[in-house]
Amino acid sequence: MSMRFLLDNKEISLGDALRILPNLAIYFEVLKDKALECHIDDKKLIVVNDKSKIFIDIDRDLEYHKKFFYKHSIYKEPLAKAIGLKKGQLKPKVVDTTGGFLSDSLLLLSFGLDVSVCERNPLSAMLIQNAIDNTHVELDFSYGCITDLKLDADVAYYDPMYSHKNEKTSPKKHMKLFRDFIGVDEDSVSTAKFLIDNYKRVVIKRSVKAPFLIDLPSHSISGKSTRYDVYMAN
Ligand SMILES: C[S@@+](CC[C@H](N)C(=O)[O-])C[C@H]1O[C@@H](n2cnc3c(N)ncnc32)[C@H](O)[C@@H]1O
Repeated sequence: MSMRFLLDNKEISLGDALRILPNLAIYFEVLKDKALECHIDDKKLIVVNDKSKIFIDIDRDLEYHKKFFYKHSIYKEPLAKAIGLKKGQLKPKVVDTTGGFLSDSLLLLSFGLDVSVCERNPLSAMLIQNAIDNTHVELDFSYGCITDLKLDADVAYYDPMYSHKNEKTSPKKHMKLFRDFIGVDEDSVSTAKFLIDNYKRVVIKRSVKAPFLIDLPSHSISGKSTRYDVYMAN
């Protein structure tokens, strides 16, 4: 994807845009798709098309999880089980290698885990960076591809964007918008192999009926629509 960042009609680099973002109103334009725009509204970065909008609000989402886990056990969550979270045991450090719009990272954070996040798509990275700039919650975020960054953790969590060609139901509007600017992560098999070679435990998110992305996992944890395939180092 090629993008242009415009500040007072002068083009600036992605790095400068990321630095300036919390303080100045930037308008930038995604050249690939003229219908997609990004706005700063009260320091909040919002990606908009004619049908939907995306922004990340860390405080709002964490508050939602906090209320939910006030009445429900964290340890019964399929993702918590897949990560290997057990009552009375040390909590693992997790790297969310596919930040996206942070939904899974914030769920992991609400389990009380030490979470680091990376994201390689520049627009997603800007949404994440902007969300971090607008909260007091500490989240260790790196912009780039996990295979270059090689972040240290006990568990690597991987949720790439798959092709949805044969999907029967149409996606929610904000999901469609997200897919439009991310595209398909064509390197998901090689990245999964890299993770399995480099981390003690790897959790790959799949839709419940999808085949395994690569080899047979050590075990799987299934929820209603999602399956987590867990790969353990020998
Ligand atoms: C399906 S989305 C993830 C959604 C995310 N789990 C959430 O809850 O919002 C996949 C994201 O991972 C990013 N991604 C895919 N492969 C990556 C890699 N090797 N390194 C860093 N980011 C990657 C994509 O750019 C995309 O934003």
